[in-house]
Amino acid sequence: MTDRYAVFGHPIAHSKSPQIHAAFARQTGQDMTYAAILAPLDGFPASVAAFVATGGRGANITVPFKEEAFRLAQQRTPRAERAGAVNTLVFADGEIRGDNTDGAGLVADLTRNLHRPLGGRRILLLGAGGAARGVIEPLLDEAPAALVIANRTVARAQELADLFGRGVAACGFDTTGSGFDVVINATSASLAGELPPLSPAVFAPDALAYDMMYGRDTPFLAFARAHGAATADGLGMLVEQAAEAFFVWRGVRPETAPVIAALRHAA
Ligand code: ATR
Repeated sequence: MTDRYAVFGHPIAHSKSPQIHAAFARQTGQDMTYAAILAPLDGFPASVAAFVATGGRGANITVPFKEEAFRLAQQRTPRAERAGAVNTLVFADGEIRGDNTDGAGLVADLTRNLHRPLGGRRILLLGAGGAARGVIEPLLDEAPAALVIANRTVARAQELADLFGRGVAACGFDTTGSGFDVVINATSASLAGELPPLSPAVFAPDALAYDMMYGRDTPFLAFARAHGAATADGLGMLVEQAAEAFFVWRGVRPETAPVIAALRHAA
């Protein structure tokens, strides 16, 4: 029987995950389907239960259900625990297991696709919401020289710094310090077409500016480019977090480069 997977979100119509996983399945010869399911805002657990009852083997979870998926999971991986959110569910042995592949996806995109080693480098992470929290642990595991979290509401950045320890520093946008090798935008400012008020001095001479949003040139990336930084959007992270989820479910690592290229071409 063909194994069934799906992504749950609200909204979900524009999700690229079905396309990405269909490409992975073709490439690796896995017998599976992958659908997009619009869960009601007040009915996420019931929607997941219905999917499991009809033979669902696993799911990806996107906005706004990642924290609810965390609570729904009866078992969680350490990286999901640290992220406080779950983007990947495994349904096996009558149990729901929760994982989080977002941070691994970001690190894979930065290091493998964009050729930006993070060890010994200075990283500035903008934002202190769920998106930022989800990537901190895997960034720290790369042993950067510094990881600074800057946020509009400094207290939220400080909470995250306290939660993770390991030398993580917190500040506001006006007190970040300067000379970062990688500056990652994990705020939702880009959604509103806004730019965190940063000094151009945040960018080291050969810095990379990375926006976790994809599909449009954000004010943050335009600002970074104007000040000499290289730029990348979050499309590679999207494909890499999917590849990591695919590996969790199927035990096979798909090649991501052709899938990223195809999505870029289609955009
Ligand atoms: P997500 O799950 O996408 O991270 P969130 O938890 O609501 O969503 O967090 C949104 C993040 O974007 C926060 O860091 C928020 O800053 P505050 O903590 O000060 O609210 C940040 N953010 C949202 N709009 C912003 C803007 N216009 N400028 C700068 N930061 C913004």
